[in-house]
Amino acid sequence: MKRTRASFTLLLILSVFALSCSKQSGETKNAQNPLVDTGDMKDFVDDLMGRLTLEEKIGQLTLYTADMDVTGSSVRDDYKNEITSGRVGSIFNAYTPKFTRELQDLAIHSGNKIPLIIGYDVIHGHKTIFPVSLGESCSWDMGLIEKTARISAVEATADGINWIYAPMVDVARDPRWGRVVEGAGEDAWLGAQVATARVRGIQGTSLANPDSALASVKHFAAYGAAKGGRDYNVVNMSVQELFETYLPPFKAAAEAGAATFMTSFNEINGVPSTSNKWLIEDVLRKQWKWDGFLVADYTAVAELIEHGTAIDGKDAARQAILAGTDVDMQSGLYPKYLAELVREGHVDEEVIEHSARRVLEAKYKLGLFKDPYRGVNEERAKNEIMKPEHLEHAAEVARHSIVLLKNEKATLPLRHHQTIALIGPMADNQRDQVGSWSAAGDWKKVTTLKAGLTKYISERSAPAKILYAKGANLIDDPTMREFLNRHSGNIELDAKSPERLLSEAVNTAKAADVIVLALGEAFGMSGEAASRTEIRLPANQQKLLRELAKLNKPIALVLFNGRPLVLTEESKLATSILETWYLGTEAGTAIADVLFGEHNPSGKLTMSFPYHEGQIPIYYGDKNTGRPITVHDKYASRYIDAPNTALYPFGWGLSYTKFEYSPLKLSANAMGTKDTLQASVTVTNAGDVDGTEIVQFYLRDLVGSTTRPKLMLKNFKKVYIKRGESQEVSFPITVEELKFYNEKLEYRSEAGAFRAFVGGNSRDLQSADFTLTE
Ligand code: NOJ
Repeated sequence: MKRTRASFTLLLILSVFALSCSKQSGETKNAQNPLVDTGDMKDFVDDLMGRLTLEEKIGQLTLYTADMDVTGSSVRDDYKNEITSGRVGSIFNAYTPKFTRELQDLAIHSGNKIPLIIGYDVIHGHKTIFPVSLGESCSWDMGLIEKTARISAVEATADGINWIYAPMVDVARDPRWGRVVEGAGEDAWLGAQVATARVRGIQGTSLANPDSALASVKHFAAYGAAKGGRDYNVVNMSVQELFETYLPPFKAAAEAGAATFMTSFNEINGVPSTSNKWLIEDVLRKQWKWDGFLVADYTAVAELIEHGTAIDGKDAARQAILAGTDVDMQSGLYPKYLAELVREGHVDEEVIEHSARRVLEAKYKLGLFKDPYRGVNEERAKNEIMKPEHLEHAAEVARHSIVLLKNEKATLPLRHHQTIALIGPMADNQRDQVGSWSAAGDWKKVTTLKAGLTKYISERSAPAKILYAKGANLIDDPTMREFLNRHSGNIELDAKSPERLLSEAVNTAKAADVIVLALGEAFGMSGEAASRTEIRLPANQQKLLRELAKLNKPIALVLFNGRPLVLTEESKLATSILETWYLGTEAGTAIADVLFGEHNPSGKLTMSFPYHEGQIPIYYGDKNTGRPITVHDKYASRYIDAPNTALYPFGWGLSYTKFEYSPLKLSANAMGTKDTLQASVTVTNAGDVDGTEIVQFYLRDLVGSTTRPKLMLKNFKKVYIKRGESQEVSFPITVEELKFYNEKLEYRSEAGAFRAFVGGNSRDLQSADFTLTE
């Protein structure tokens, strides 16, 4: 259906007029725009494109931050004028019904009247804050993870946001890198499952639903492999490793229908991602048939100059657009140079049109041409944000994210008839529980561990008694404290001296049966631009643990941190260790439930915890080498001062009960490429309480045309088993699980010997061998 330009213009003007009259009504008014009702996106976008000037098309490729939040180096103060003059297609760091409506009003009264996409970093919750993404991945619970993303989108869209800068799907094997906190850990397969769940949650069943948002899958690609764990650093790796380890979560997210992707800051093998035509056009668009729009990360287009692959801003804009980067976030180089580049013949106008069309299609899918406000108003925000169901989910997913690393001398669960010394700078700490990407979340709404324990005891009339002492400042080291405080930290020094804090803690502990010691990293020690060389607890907190350990009382160490830590000393001094990450708004509620055994912990690590930083990068899926440690005491691929393995490996996590595994059975010991084998095991809850086990299934290709990892996670099941009961768990093996990228980058299986493994973590496994025949 082709319309004349004049009649279309009239329709659009009428519809925008009607929309502005319906301000704050929150209703969807679509009667004014019959093109939307026909559901014919192509017609609509064709018509619209036909009426846009080159500058307006480029405007659709331009994204600026508003001044509500700061997530990068600078904010333009003229961004509102740019909207009014039709030179901006999208805005980020903006929320609240009032502000986002105000911005949409500017856009729909601009020359081209095209509504804005409004983006924000809703990473692990908008106002209700859920566990940090790395922590949540330890739940291995795709249902809970999807629900977190869904609720985040419900709250964010009620607050005027329609584009969410998540999921972050970077596989990360270097815990020095602060951004490991944003992802799902070290494994490609698990990362792909989590990516899918998060995309589904954010986008819902249809982008047209007013509570769905565009997901932005980031950071494309391989950002997690930054050399030395130093943020924004270069990446060098084989294409096989890229495809096998770093790309699978992106591919899964593309297959799940993610509407947008974001480039990464890094280069890969000398080519910055934002100008990497092969990665964007060949892999993402052609091989994966992905048709969304790609946004450059914050000033990443301009950073091509610093990378040293572009001579100036004009060259950077040319390279990025020609590589397939559709939208320029915050550099301002597309609006500055693209028109000139087109006029000079360096960039075809068609290239701009392809990109602008992708952005307009996303706007169409969001229903912005029907209702630029997407029903946003104060009342909806009030009803949807932080409602009780959301807080309940926050507590539930937090319970499932906790990982019990160690539990000896029956330290946990706490018994009700105990005097408990609650000690540590994290015990009554609200600020850090929301992590470094709490975005619009209000940390003052957090239930602390102290509040959670107190509430638990009073609600259940438990005869337990809490004695509290802070014990130490979060960080005594002035250099670190001042650095963090310069960058939005608020680490205060207690009025009491460190010696006094320590002696009070020791005296408090003396009067108790058990010590619950809450220690950790300040939130700013992980996240973006927060790489560390020493991934340990701050020295003054370590000292507190050492002093308390001298009392020879059971110590339940409760950890709050955004990355795997080196806990070698702590693992000797504490009788129990509970890893809680940063659990968000309901942190204290969830931890109290686990400490008292109301909830039996079931989380399993998704990243290895090293013995020592010198082992990094450390991950369970490494390769055997020609000289594995088993062949020689000295001339082996090993450290002479530390093991090769992790202190707490991938998949590790204890329970208050004990799970026993029967030998692994295979339905046959050979399979053809069309067959399915079943690997099965019986898991028995041999302890005293009901519990949940995450049963993990791994494979190893024993002989390949190229070297293969010693273990690859291929499946898992999360099963609830009552005490004394057993459950059979089985995993199908098809040729799909056996394929890999060979030397020629073909994704194929090879006939030969394989080993299947099942167990409760990546170290304690039992196995059975089989062969794949041609
Ligand atoms: C830079 C970060 O790398 C990215 O994850 C984020 O979405 C943008 N800033 C916008 O805040």
